[in-house]
Amino acid sequence: MKHSEKLKHLPPYLFAQLDQLIHEKSAQGQDLIVLSKSDPDRPAHPNVVVVLREQAVEPLNHHYPDFDGLKLLREQTASWYQTQHGVTLDPEHEILPLMGSKEGIVHFCQAWLDPGDIALVPDPAFPSYRTGVILAGGKPHLMPLREPDYLPDFREIPTDVARQAKLMFLNYPNNPTAVTVSPGFWQEALEFARDFDIILVNDHAYAMTKFDPDVAPSVLSVPGSRERSLEFFTFSKAYHMAGWRLAVAVGNAEIVRGLKVIETHVNAGIFNPIQYAGAEALRLSTKPHFFMAENQAYKQRLMHLVEFFNSWGWKLKVPKATVYLWVPAPADMDGDEFTRFLLDEGNVVVAPGSGFGEEGKNHVRFCVTYADETIDQALKAMDTAFKKTGVKAPYSPHHAAR
Ligand SMILES: Cc1ncc(COP(=O)(O)O)c(C=O)c1O
Repeated sequence: MKHSEKLKHLPPYLFAQLDQLIHEKSAQGQDLIVLSKSDPDRPAHPNVVVVLREQAVEPLNHHYPDFDGLKLLREQTASWYQTQHGVTLDPEHEILPLMGSKEGIVHFCQAWLDPGDIALVPDPAFPSYRTGVILAGGKPHLMPLREPDYLPDFREIPTDVARQAKLMFLNYPNNPTAVTVSPGFWQEALEFARDFDIILVNDHAYAMTKFDPDVAPSVLSVPGSRERSLEFFTFSKAYHMAGWRLAVAVGNAEIVRGLKVIETHVNAGIFNPIQYAGAEALRLSTKPHFFMAENQAYKQRLMHLVEFFNSWGWKLKVPKATVYLWVPAPADMDGDEFTRFLLDEGNVVVAPGSGFGEEGKNHVRFCVTYADETIDQALKAMDTAFKKTGVKAPYSPHHAAR
């Protein structure tokens, strides 16, 4: 048996590896404190679950769903974009419901890349951008995101590469670094994309997971962006629906159409009750303060982690959005070694930065979608481990020497 060449080029999937590690250690009786995966600790809103229940007993919903996605969900997405971002969308042509943004990202690459085509992919980044490009036979050109602001430097991209590039993935607020951008950055990205005729994609997974109202602008709010932009928005994070598998892709009608062609061949639609429930989630969240309690909890947890590291000599700031803290490894370790140290000495599981790309190799990512008690446990365990081993803070706040 010989598997495809593509498979060889795919790095192991970080979170599958971490899950396996967690299962193995737990089977050996080790009590782990897991802070690695961003899967909200709260359940979906009760009214959203009620809608799912009501719709699940409706026999009409037991048939194959519509390829276009539920009209109500598309309309609700349009009105939500209007309220949240001041963006007007056509529910017929500019919105496509998906079974999660991870699969949408991979399918999007199938629609827009031919073998050998170049796609611009940030490093570090959520792994699925690179996966999607590789599975489509394309070539990822990595854009390093560096401290302190973790933005791509478009001038660093060689002109011949930019000319050949068909699309560019960006993701702000950012996983794993937690940085945010202003509309001015989207303007700059759009100008670059326009100069080289590139499709601009923002994976807006953390659009509503923010601690300041203005830190998560939609790329579609920039005038002229509709001519070449697409945005993914998942229900996994803000609505605590990670297991439900629901997201939307919105933006340029032709780009959405291309993605829809692939979806019609690969999927057979999304279970309607999930889409009705998603529409209800969007409707509920137009009320002010809908996200306030959970965002306050995330911020509080991030603050505790920041205080802990800074008390040991780090110089971290509390992120303005997301559920992540991107922490440079101590002076004499890289990110993989720090991950191993936290596991061996404190039973704490974090995501090694190397899992997000080469540029992440000197960091680890903490995730705060875990109960306050779990965060407290982790802080105590790390404090004991740090005291026992005399861990030293990184040489410089930006790890520039490494
Ligand atoms: C930036 C980013 N995009 C997409 C996803 C996946 O979202 P979904 O659950 O919709 O596949 C994640 C999950 O961690 C993410 O961080």
